[in-house]
Amino acid sequence: MSLLPSSASPIRLAVVMGTRPEAVKLAPLVLAAQSDPQRFQVDVVSTGQHKEMLDSMLAWFGLRPSVSLDIMRPNQDLAHITMSSLSGINDWLKTHRPDWVVVQGDTTTTFAGALAAFYNRIPVAHVEAGLRTHDKYSPYPEEANRVMTGHLADLHFPPTAGARDNLLREGIADERITVTGNTGIDALLWTRNKLANEGKLPTGDGREVLVTAHRRENQGEPMRGLCHAILTLLARYPDVRVNFPVHLSPRVREVVFPVLSGHPRVQLTDPLDYPEFVQAMARSCFILTDSGGVQEEAPSLGKPVLVLRDSTERPEAMQAGTAKLVGTDPERLLAEAARLLDDQAEYTRMSKAQNPYGDGQAAQRILQVIARTPVASR
Ligand code: UD1
Ligand code: UDP
Repeated sequence: MSLLPSSASPIRLAVVMGTRPEAVKLAPLVLAAQSDPQRFQVDVVSTGQHKEMLDSMLAWFGLRPSVSLDIMRPNQDLAHITMSSLSGINDWLKTHRPDWVVVQGDTTTTFAGALAAFYNRIPVAHVEAGLRTHDKYSPYPEEANRVMTGHLADLHFPPTAGARDNLLREGIADERITVTGNTGIDALLWTRNKLANEGKLPTGDGREVLVTAHRRENQGEPMRGLCHAILTLLARYPDVRVNFPVHLSPRVREVVFPVLSGHPRVQLTDPLDYPEFVQAMARSCFILTDSGGVQEEAPSLGKPVLVLRDSTERPEAMQAGTAKLVGTDPERLLAEAARLLDDQAEYTRMSKAQNPYGDGQAAQRILQVIARTPVASR
């Protein structure tokens, strides 16, 4: 049932994205809005903060940006991303004047999108709002990006009750907050079910470990330590294999390839397209990662996650027992990996826990709230 009078014109949404996870987590919302043209008209505004990694996600979900700013540079710094995104989004907003700007998460594209909207007095809807570590430098720069975005936003869509509480503590009005679950779970369940229906969801042999790493605060020595810990793990477990799709950042690749390439039981590849990555998660025994999105997705595939970070904005996964924070200390990492490989009871406990991040309906909940919020209320 439409929430708008039939004579009303559709609500115009500008959905801003720039990186791989934003495309995954905003695709369900864009697709749901596009399927309801009486209520919504959608423009995808891409900063192109990522290039190949964004393009492959857009292709899988069939998203076509109305504009691509193409800002990516090799080894780009944060000021470059902010300035070029802000300027490009600002120009587009000035001309097109959408009713809402929708941003997701905590990348620099997210913050620039919210700031450009604010400068143009266009209301902002923030998807995956309220995640906090309360440490400005961890993760860097994402904690600052999401705090600043939160204070520019008009509607806040935290995935969990805990994220909602963070927003309330910062003085955000309760009536502007709706707990929705994470739209990343919408994308994951859709993809998982499609693969399963096509008979393309593998079960592994229990000896393949999936690894991803990219966070700025882990680049350099922590990432080198991780790679050496992987070599030690492989030496201790001659039947274990490692699958490591390596992020395209030169700062990641210049560390990972020299240490791990050539090992007969390490498969280093370029980043995988989303369905291939879902298959890799399904095939794995457990996952070593510093990714935010992977922590959220893995429980829906029954995979334990060891999180390569010192702090977390996702305590729900730890509380549910699906993930453990192990940092980048090689000894801790090896001890926890060995537990999962040797201790069946511990493995079962972590792999059977329920996903605390959503039920696959987050995008619909968000659109319902946007549809019933008068734009003049900003
Ligand atoms: C960015 C986000 C981070 C998010 C991550 C998801 C910021 C500051 N960081 O980090 O929050 O978790 O994306 O992956 O917003 N590159 C390519 N091709 C690509 C993508 C990246 O070559 O398709 C290379 C480029 O040299 C680029 C570098 O990777 O300069 C780093 O990209 P950048 O977006 O700055 O940082 P990420 O680590 O990807
Ligand atoms: N992902 C992917 N291919 C890969 C690695 C990750 O499709 O080779 C997906 C993953 O399933 C999740 C998203 O990319 O949906 C996470 O992106 P990333 O780890 O880069 O960013 P973060 O979530 O940490 O911001």
